[in-house]
Formats: sequence, C-alpha cells, structure tokens
Amino acid sequence: MSDLNLAASEQKCLIEAVDVDKSYSTPREVIHVLTQANLKVLSGEVLGIVGASGVGKSTLLHVLGGLDKPMAGSILFQGKDIYKQSNGYLENFRNGHIGFVFQFFNLLPDFTALENAMLPALIRNQDSHLAKERAEYLLCEVGMKDRMHHKPSELSGGESQRVALARGLINQPDLLLADEPTGNLDNHASDQLIELIRKLNQEFDQTFVIVTHSQRVAGQLDRVVELVDGKLSAIRQNLVL
Ligand SMILES: Nc1ncnc2c1ncn2[C@@H]1O[C@H](COP(=O)(O)OP(=O)(O)O)[C@@H](O)[C@H]1O
Ligand SMILES: [Mg+2]
Repeated sequence: MSDLNLAASEQKCLIEAVDVDKSYSTPREVIHVLTQANLKVLSGEVLGIVGASGVGKSTLLHVLGGLDKPMAGSILFQGKDIYKQSNGYLENFRNGHIGFVFQFFNLLPDFTALENAMLPALIRNQDSHLAKERAEYLLCEVGMKDRMHHKPSELSGGESQRVALARGLINQPDLLLADEPTGNLDNHASDQLIELIRKLNQEFDQTFVIVTHSQRVAGQLDRVVELVDGKLSAIRQNLVL
C-alpha cells in the first residue's frame, strides 16, 4: 500500500465487529469461541488474522462474512448491523459485498477455470457476456491467461487458488475474506499468492482479510491481529489507526 493510500485509509473503517460472542452447543458442552471480540477492518488494507488451530479463526470469518449469526454483539457494515436488517439483506450482502477464498479452493471439477470464475456472477443473474469478460480480465490479472479453459484437475494448487481468487473478486466485493488460502500450497506458491494479493490490493485498493497460521505469510501482510481466548489483539501493525 502506498503512503498516500495509507493516509487516506487511516480512519475509514469498512467493517467492524463489536463485542461479538459466538459459541457452539454440543450435547456434552458449550464451546465459547468468540467472547466480546472486537475488530475493525480498514478500507484498503490487507489484514492478517493468526491464532492457534481451533481458536475460532474460521468462525470469525464466517461471522464477518454474513454466514453465521453471533449470539451477541454486532457486525457493522456501512453503519448497519448486517444481522439486524430485513429479509434478503444478508444474501445480498454476501453475494454483492463479500468474496470468499478457502484453503481447498472449492472449485467445481466439471467446469473450466473460466466457468468457475464466472459462476458467482451468473448466480447473481449478471449478464453472461459481461461476466465472461470480467472473468477473463481477472484471470489475466492473476496470471492465468493461458489456463482459462483448463479444468481444476489440470491445474496445480497455486493455479487453482489463483482461479479461486479471480472467482472471489468477480462481483467486485468490498471485502475479500480468505481462510488459510495458502494452507495447501508450498512456500513458493504461497509467496506468489501473497504477492498477487498485494498487487490486487494496490491496483484496485481491494481490502483483504487473510486467516493464516503461517508466520511466513503473516510477515508479508500490512497488519496482523491474533485471536486468543476469544478476543483479538494487535501483534504487528504497519498502519497508524
Ligand atoms: N459447527 C460446530 N459445532 C460445534 N463446534 C464447532 C463447530 N464449528 C467449530 N467448532 C469448534 O469451535 C472451535 C473454533 O473452530 P474454528 O473457528 O474452525 O477454529 P480455527 O479456524 O481457528 O481452527 C473449535 O473448537 C471447533 O471444534
Ligand atoms: Mg479454520
């Protein structure tokens, strides 16, 4: 991120978790995963979330992305609590404002890279020609120009994740949430993916939240917070809040 962008984003909060509680009830126990968790994601930043396995990183991403309602607290987006709006809001929020990338890519095996990247736009009833044009553009951006018509089984892990990244960006989300996106990649492919994320961040001012347990990845991000005992705390910060 340039110094200029950095200055502009100083106070602009894109999405905020306020005093979020989330627990899971099993027949044997209640697991308190998030307890009064607070987090601000700034517009235009690449934020890393680290934490031990099972601490609740995926849960936090799901709560932030409108996939899982917390027991208490709020997720504020554009000044509104996303879980307290009228019917249809959440679906529109997820499809229109949020992109997701997962550890195991989750590409559909029978579809080409291009078709996979187009899919979220088609689900939103976007014009198929426009969806195709944008998917082609994004696949070029992520370095997959010569692999567009390949199926997932014909792609490496790093290539598959770059297709998943293009798919996550197809609907021009305000925020891209990535859950261990490099967890299935070797160091070289991991470095390439993070470099690509940083390029997309700079070119489009795209905001990213990246969950990772890798110190290597965390070291490549603007700001890193750690999830411990249900709460988030800053562990490294290149931004002035
Ligand atoms: N649907 C669920 N039902 C019961 N427990 C769950 C469920 N999802 C996650 N958990 C538990 O909540 C805790 C946090 O899980 P998760 O968010 O997946 O952690 P992380 O992504 O940091 O590894 C773990 O102890 C996990 O076993
Ligand atoms: Mg997880």
